[in-house]
Amino acid sequence: MDHIYEAKWITSPAACGEAVYALEKTFSVEKAVKRATLQASALGVYVAQINGARVGDQILSPGWTDYRYRVQYQTYDVTGLLGKENCICARVAHGWRMHRGGWQTNWAGNSIASSASETAFIASLFIEYEDGSTDTILTDGTWACRETGTRMANMYNGETFDATFCETFVRPAAEADYSPKLLTPQENEPVREQIRLSAERVFTTPQGDTVIDFGQNLTGYVEFSICGEKGHKASIRCFEVLDKDGNVYVENLRAAQTTITYYCDGTRRTFKPEFTFYGFQYLCLHDWPEDVKAENFTAIVLFSDMKRTGYFECSDKDVNRLFENVVWGQRGNFVDVPTDCPQRDERLGWTGDAQVFARTASYIYDVRKFFKKWLRDLSCGQHADGSVEHVIPTLGWMSGGACGWSDAATICPWQIYQTYGDREVLVEQFASMRSWVDYMRTHSTGGLWLGGDHFADWLNLDGDEAATSKPYLQNAYFLYSNSLLIRTGKLLGIDMTEYEACFDETLAAFRARFIKDGKITENTQTACAEALVFGFLNAEEQKSVASQLASLVEECGHLKTGFLGTPYLLHALSDNGYGKLAYDLLLRHEFPGWLYSVDNGATTIWEHWDSRNPDGSMWDAGMNSFNHYAYGSVAQWMFECAAGIRHDEKDAGFAHVVFSPLTDSRLTYVKASIDTVHGVCASEWRETDGGYTYTFTVPEGVTATVLLPGVREEIGSGTHTYTV
Ligand code: BGC
Repeated sequence: MDHIYEAKWITSPAACGEAVYALEKTFSVEKAVKRATLQASALGVYVAQINGARVGDQILSPGWTDYRYRVQYQTYDVTGLLGKENCICARVAHGWRMHRGGWQTNWAGNSIASSASETAFIASLFIEYEDGSTDTILTDGTWACRETGTRMANMYNGETFDATFCETFVRPAAEADYSPKLLTPQENEPVREQIRLSAERVFTTPQGDTVIDFGQNLTGYVEFSICGEKGHKASIRCFEVLDKDGNVYVENLRAAQTTITYYCDGTRRTFKPEFTFYGFQYLCLHDWPEDVKAENFTAIVLFSDMKRTGYFECSDKDVNRLFENVVWGQRGNFVDVPTDCPQRDERLGWTGDAQVFARTASYIYDVRKFFKKWLRDLSCGQHADGSVEHVIPTLGWMSGGACGWSDAATICPWQIYQTYGDREVLVEQFASMRSWVDYMRTHSTGGLWLGGDHFADWLNLDGDEAATSKPYLQNAYFLYSNSLLIRTGKLLGIDMTEYEACFDETLAAFRARFIKDGKITENTQTACAEALVFGFLNAEEQKSVASQLASLVEECGHLKTGFLGTPYLLHALSDNGYGKLAYDLLLRHEFPGWLYSVDNGATTIWEHWDSRNPDGSMWDAGMNSFNHYAYGSVAQWMFECAAGIRHDEKDAGFAHVVFSPLTDSRLTYVKASIDTVHGVCASEWRETDGGYTYTFTVPEGVTATVLLPGVREEIGSGTHTYTV
């Protein structure tokens, strides 16, 4: 019953720049309707209406996929919207497909996503009557097209709405030459408006700007009420942070204009953008036509409508704020695809960022469908030689193959399988996983993969000379990815002998080159942490490398890791006898450390350990996002180590849980829960007289192992308490 495949893609007959055009069709319904179903999609983004009422509550449909190969369509029950005389209408904007400016445009200035030169819309309205007969209304050249009052809509630059615009100039729509075969049903939870936040304060900056503060860095848009003289132009600039003097700071948004421009028509109206989003905490108002009242502005938070699953709380309010910042970072960067940041002229599905955060993300929200969709686009964008592009959906002009980034091809499916026990993702992604490992094999000599372009331990604090080398990192990831591929292949009953031989050869070469006298030759926190967590060491080396890592941390007194080392650092310490040191890093308030940003007012995770310097100045204007989730991977440690909820790799999907919380005298309690596919798994510990009380909750049908000082016990479902 997917009638959309019978429809034709239609578009505006004349180029209308970045103005939003509407396509519409009128029709009568003569009989009693039993059910009416609309299926719709766009090359671009669309909002459909029937008789003036919005169809569905999804935002930025049809979502972002590799448009060269796949475009999702949405299915809506519209029975209640039909009358006797009807008008179906869709407004279409550029969306992700036809970004102009910023990273979506290549150096030559072309918009890439599938060399798009136009947007298009496709739909079918299938009406079933009470008498058993049916009608199908399909998009074709009989639809009409008109320009709308949305004079500009651009993902980075914002939206311009002219309330005075006269939408009467109508022409026939043009049919567009795209295949309906591109269409695929919506795969993940759609983006929806999730949270509404009131403005916290309105103030005037030292430079005289009128600014509204929502108290939270967020991704979405603002809804506002406005009344000004006909033709009056007012605008709002959305931005993340104030500078050290309390003035508007927009340099870190780079080319993204992040502006809403509104032309008044003399009446009071409530407006919100529909075809774009912004990463912001503040609004700067220009030429506001009336008194600025906080109650006239509401921030609307958008993200993919995933189920919330993970919660964490402890006795330290700053750690709790840090955890909240991780949650907000995920919200802001899970708008249909996992992005690096939501504010500047980038907002791309950077593979490295996604892979370092995937595990954490899978605890906090149910991201199974979200990642499965994104991984299909990763496969689509993968080159014939197996190289994976650095951003997915691909822009088509960036290269690929960087270690730790392209490894998203193996790490993300494995993680989704681990958290949800979903074998289907492994079945679907196996070819892509293998082909990425084959790429590394093909480029290796004597077991080692050398050469290529790599971001390495991005944004680490080691300094250029002393940082973990590219050969070390690329071979650590080569081994790790191959080990995941081998495990996947075996699970799927595939002969992996060839890959095992390759793994052994690389491991031998890696060990010969990078392990000497029981230590890692690369004397960095990241190198040690990865060797410890990836499992390249024998028991004795594990001890000596753990002590090497502990010394490295103790000597400088803080972490130095970048994107690649950070997710593993605390685990490498606490799993090897240095739990206190791991807590030292977590609880550190000075730069560099997680609580440094909290103390400096962060409400999301920063891109750099020092996005803002202690004196309030900025790291740099060029690449400084205040909502970048990579370092939020620390929440994984909060769940797995501080609260001690872990699942066994053998029993994917939390079929068997291990509870082994790590207490610390600086905290009096920790509690966390994860709503797994089997039900809620929870752990709590509290300081009691001279000891601790632990409470573990195991869902129905799940078994668990409790590991506490002096206790090792197998338990079944229910709530279990221990006092140690
Ligand atoms: C992004 C990162 C990304 C990196 C690659 C940046 O511009 O924001 O998060 O992983 O480039 O080095």
